[in-house]
Amino acid sequence: MIRSVVRGIGSALPRRIMKNTDFEGIVDTTDEWIVQRTGIRQRHIAAEDETTASLGEAAARAALDAAGLTPADIDLVLLATSTPNNTFPATAVEIQQRLGMRHGFAFDMQAVCSGFVYAVTTADLYLRGGMARRVLLIGSETFSRILDWNDRSTCVLFGDGAGAIVLEAAEGQGTIADRGVLASSLRSDGTFKDKLFVDGGPSTTGTVGHLRMEGREVFKHAVGMITDVIEATYTQAGITSEDLDWFVPHQANRRIIDASAKKLGIAEEKVVVTVDRHGNTSAASVPLALSVAVADGRIKKGDLVLLEAMGGGFTWGAVLVRW
Ligand code: UT7
Repeated sequence: MIRSVVRGIGSALPRRIMKNTDFEGIVDTTDEWIVQRTGIRQRHIAAEDETTASLGEAAARAALDAAGLTPADIDLVLLATSTPNNTFPATAVEIQQRLGMRHGFAFDMQAVCSGFVYAVTTADLYLRGGMARRVLLIGSETFSRILDWNDRSTCVLFGDGAGAIVLEAAEGQGTIADRGVLASSLRSDGTFKDKLFVDGGPSTTGTVGHLRMEGREVFKHAVGMITDVIEATYTQAGITSEDLDWFVPHQANRRIIDASAKKLGIAEEKVVVTVDRHGNTSAASVPLALSVAVADGRIKKGDLVLLEAMGGGFTWGAVLVRW
């Protein structure tokens, strides 16, 4: 059977780092509160010339280099983002143009923080369905542009950045020893749409709007939802937490990551944490964390890696992949 195998990974971060102490003159907060409640110590913030498209392009080029491929080898550019450069056209199309591609097709996916997990699952279907042989899959965000910089309960939590992978169709045996995407589970429930949302849009206010969140409400549901989709992937693949080499969760809050790992019985040393240095970068958070763990030699070819995310909508999902 066809498997969607990771050929390469890359990432890009804005030049400017904003530390927790830099917020102390902007809103009523402290480094101590942010670290204790979230585990975040710093985040990257995009300058005017750094956009979702430019960061996405840089991450995409790095992933192509790591794969030893060029844009000519790609059939589909799939971008997970909630902060596109423009309402339309899709920012994926702009990245396609920046890469000099005039073949294939490109589109954006919007599932907020779950965007990358949704996009991996979608890319896997295109590859297994035979409509593409190689997908350039990018998560890129500039959440700093939609933050209310007067709201201390949200502005300290998010950061900007991009991560990308190249997925390629390859023949597998149909067992969990195969490299590639092995199982995935996606969920959404719009009854929670007012818990984490942006209060503007083209069809309502005609403005871009600002991020609003009832943090405690999101927190309350996060661990249960995350563990449900992870257990669904375990059932599909016939594995348990013991079989995992790495757990790469969405990086929103250290306390959510720790509680989810504990509930699932995943050993602490298998958990990849980057929320301390990136903050919550929404759809970019999982590929950014993956790229850190690949670059420092933790994640190696053949390792069994579990990805998960949960965010606005609510949306949530998990993907099991053998690297
Ligand atoms: O990507 C997925 C989406 N996002 C998430 O997963 C986020 C989920 N939620 C969270 O991570 C946490 O709920 C937060 C980090 C947002 C907040 O932590 P919490 O422990 O749930 O705090 P809280 O909202 O219950 O607020 C506790 C107190 C409040 O003061 P009072 O009402 O107790 O007087 C807040 O006003 O902390 C106050 N507070 C702050 N204090 C200093 C809120 N933000 C700040 C701040 N600095 N930045």
